[in-house]
Amino acid sequence: MGSAHRNEASGRFITFEGIDGCGKTTQLRLLAQRLREQGRAVVETVEPGGTEIGRQIRKILLDPANTAIQPRTELLLYFASRAQNVNEVIRPALDAGQIVLCDRFTDSTLAYQGYGRGLDPEVVLVLDRIACRGLKPDTTVLIDIDLETSLARARRRNERFGQEESRIDDEHADFHARVRDGYRALARQEPGRFVVIDGRASIGDVALRVAEALHARV
Ligand code: TYD
Repeated sequence: MGSAHRNEASGRFITFEGIDGCGKTTQLRLLAQRLREQGRAVVETVEPGGTEIGRQIRKILLDPANTAIQPRTELLLYFASRAQNVNEVIRPALDAGQIVLCDRFTDSTLAYQGYGRGLDPEVVLVLDRIACRGLKPDTTVLIDIDLETSLARARRRNERFGQEESRIDDEHADFHARVRDGYRALARQEPGRFVVIDGRASIGDVALRVAEALHARV
């Protein structure tokens, strides 16, 4: 697994992944709440974003007006946000023995830019080594959901919250299908790190399954 950060005093690094609308953000919050109730110190963060610099980068990435953005530009910006987050938030929290829950990490880049856009996964992994300096999630929770359910949820959410952040949600179904298949392939490649949870059940049921799966790991 190569969790270079791990030592006696270090915390646990848990990432949440899945296609748009899978419910991972809700599940991350519920797990954070549950762990805090058990007296654990939990830090929640998000990619892209998670820091002041990261939030500025996120704005560029998700602005529907930025149609001229090139796939490689996008790729570098995701890793720029991540480098900042690793240095400023994630590493220090792990070193202090805390549990870090991160909404998306490098698996998102492998799934979206690699499987989705067809960029070379080796290039993604080279950038990961530069930006994350060997930091890998101890556990990755993949909330798996079929495309139809995901697109319906994303559409409803966009209607509710306006047009903001709709650039990626608007893209056609083929792309999202490749991303989902990519995630499932990643989970098969690293069964020790990934926990795959069916995201179609109710919020409460999914939360219970996440908690059960993580019980032994945190
Ligand atoms: P996010 O805010 O998590 O969207 P959602 O709540 O819909 O899951 O992520 C924003 C978008 O950025 C999402 O469509 C996935 C995309 N993304 C990438 O393409 N590559 C990446 O490396 C990351 C972190 C996100």
